Amino acid sequence: MKVPDIIIAIDGFSATGKSTLAKLIAKEFDFVYLDSGALYRGVTLHALENGFIDKDNNIDLEGLKKSLDEGLDLHFESDGGQSHTFIGERDIESEIRTLRVSSSVSPIAAVPFVRAFVDNILHAAGRKGRVVMDGRDIGTAVFPDAQVKLFVTADPDVRAQRRFDELKAKGENPVFEEVKKNLEERDYIDSHRETNPLRRADDAFVMDNSDMTLHEEIVWTRGFLMGRFGILELTTASSSNAGQC
Ligand code: DC
Repeated sequence: MKVPDIIIAIDGFSATGKSTLAKLIAKEFDFVYLDSGALYRGVTLHALENGFIDKDNNIDLEGLKKSLDEGLDLHFESDGGQSHTFIGERDIESEIRTLRVSSSVSPIAAVPFVRAFVDNILHAAGRKGRVVMDGRDIGTAVFPDAQVKLFVTADPDVRAQRRFDELKAKGENPVFEEVKKNLEERDYIDSHRETNPLRRADDAFVMDNSDMTLHEEIVWTRGFLMGRFGILELTTASSSNAGQC
């Protein structure tokens, strides 16, 4: 199925499976996947490693700003459905997924100059088109003209269980209640901050995937895109991909 060269914006709360869906879309329809949250996580890792944020999440705003102004080489390397985040030549993809970074990322992402820094990188990446990007403000602020906007939601317990399983699979030793509390805190900060808070764009379509399998999500998305772009039939290649999710 040939989808035009558009930007697909996927927003939603933490651990709703946005990035999994975005990666599936990238693979299925030959788009480049970009994970905007990874950049906020990258800035957070940088802040932690350089002493710009303490254990109570107090941020040395002046120090962090100076350091970003001096030039932090934070960037993506995307290969179709995969996106890796780098500081300079260092691949930080696994370090930015720890609970330590997760616990500090929302306060960092609420800082306006951090958002401006990340938005510059996102705009440059999106300019190339045929991009599926996930985050909290992609459809409302980063790419308000994106041709397709999805807002993904799921039951809070389902989300906490997903994040718990993910951390366990990575060899961490999470406590379910802590993981759930961290998600609730991040949801609150993300949706109550002053600059571009998380909210559904008026023209975004909602997907509640609490009870959906990945296969059902991609079938839903395919149907949605067919309707949206008046695509009448599947090609053989796309039909044969249908069972692989
Ligand atoms: O999607 P994620 O959990 O990796 O995002 C990490 C944090 O970054 C999340 O707490 C909110 C913030 N974020 C944001 O404010 N705006 C975005 N476009 C993406 C992420």
